[in-house]
Amino acid sequence: MDEGSRVSKHLAVLITAFALAAGVAACGGGSSGGSSGGGGGGSSSGSQGSISGAKVIDPSSMNNAKGNVTYCTGKDTSGDIKAGIAEFNKENPGLTAKILEFPEAADQQHDQFAQRERAKRPDCDVFESDVVWTAEFAQQKWLYDMTPYIQSRQSDFIPSTLESIHYAGKYWGVPHSTDTGLLYYRSDQVSTPPATWQDLYNIAKQKNGVVYQGASYEGLTCDFLEIAYAAGGQVLSSDGKKSLINSPQNLKALQFMVNGIKDGAAPKAVTTMMEEDARRAFEAGKATFERNWPYAYALGLMAPKVKGKFKVAPLPAFQGGGKAGILGGHNLVVSAFSKNPGGALKLVDFFSSPKWQQVTGIKYSKAPVLKSVYNNAAYKKAIPFASTLSQGVAQAHSRPVSPVYPQISQAIYKNVNAALSGSMSPQAALQAADSQINRALQTF
Ligand code: GLC
Repeated sequence: MDEGSRVSKHLAVLITAFALAAGVAACGGGSSGGSSGGGGGGSSSGSQGSISGAKVIDPSSMNNAKGNVTYCTGKDTSGDIKAGIAEFNKENPGLTAKILEFPEAADQQHDQFAQRERAKRPDCDVFESDVVWTAEFAQQKWLYDMTPYIQSRQSDFIPSTLESIHYAGKYWGVPHSTDTGLLYYRSDQVSTPPATWQDLYNIAKQKNGVVYQGASYEGLTCDFLEIAYAAGGQVLSSDGKKSLINSPQNLKALQFMVNGIKDGAAPKAVTTMMEEDARRAFEAGKATFERNWPYAYALGLMAPKVKGKFKVAPLPAFQGGGKAGILGGHNLVVSAFSKNPGGALKLVDFFSSPKWQQVTGIKYSKAPVLKSVYNNAAYKKAIPFASTLSQGVAQAHSRPVSPVYPQISQAIYKNVNAALSGSMSPQAALQAADSQINRALQTF
């Protein structure tokens, strides 16, 4: 497709391009520890652009809801979604919820949902949508506008979680779980957690290594950007129009990760690892350090080989740079093609309720989206790193906000993975990512 027809095909999103540029300009997230890394992502601050004609949720529609509702989600690796659905069905005799599980990789979840929405299918009443897909899905008009519901309980939520669902002036879902990367370390092998990534890699080399998400998928974009932002790098220019991926700071970060594999601080196998692979390796006692999300904590407590032998710390700083984290997490969106929006809202209301948020926080160590849970004594007792978590979530950088985010992320993770695997030099990888990101930005 030539540039001209591509632009006309995407006419519907053209207006938003300018809106996004403004949104990205307002970005940067908080930097903990004085990193100069802007992040080049942003708050989806919703004052820009407009999406007209979206169906608007009626908060009272959940009151007498009946019938069936389907909750679509990535693989329920912790088991909390199935437990929540069982509890919901018990509490709501007139409603029957069921789960439809998609694969483990974030990108595949995206594609599974997108396929169904493109075909206007009602399969997913509710979808557990990654925080990075709000702009794209809203722009495609696949989502209910949930603003009236959010307004009824806005002050309950941690502001960064609401930002992740705010786009073009409206709220397109309800926060479900937030996320930030954590460092899991073997406290029987290392007495204090390392202060810098460089220290961490040096210790890893002498001990049993570090595992992380290095496969070619969304998780690697997160893991790379954590180090790159800490080194002072960015993804996009502040007006959101140009790639800044090919910078000396990002090169430093990528070179550092590549060297880590070459000299044995990280096993070569990290180039194929997603969250669950890294977790299994750590739980099998095969690594001294693991970078993963909060959910891995509760599961680690049940793993006989590491139970009582590991602790959780914030991610370290990059030497000569600062500290940085990435905001992850999931929002519950209601499909515009749902045949039961009232039932869907009731299910969303349940999963984001203080009662259920506390259960998932304590029993499954998912990071809650409600402020009140972090102040709860039972929660603080169950999660010894609760304050690390709430601080991390408040200070984390967003990934770039864009309807073409999946293409931007692909340009990052495919090329970074090629560099980690040794099939491309770090410099060539960033050059390739740079031109692919610029091409993606021109498509809207
Ligand atoms: C976690 C995060 C999500 C991120 C994904 C990458 O699920 O919550 O935001 O995109 O990991 O694998």
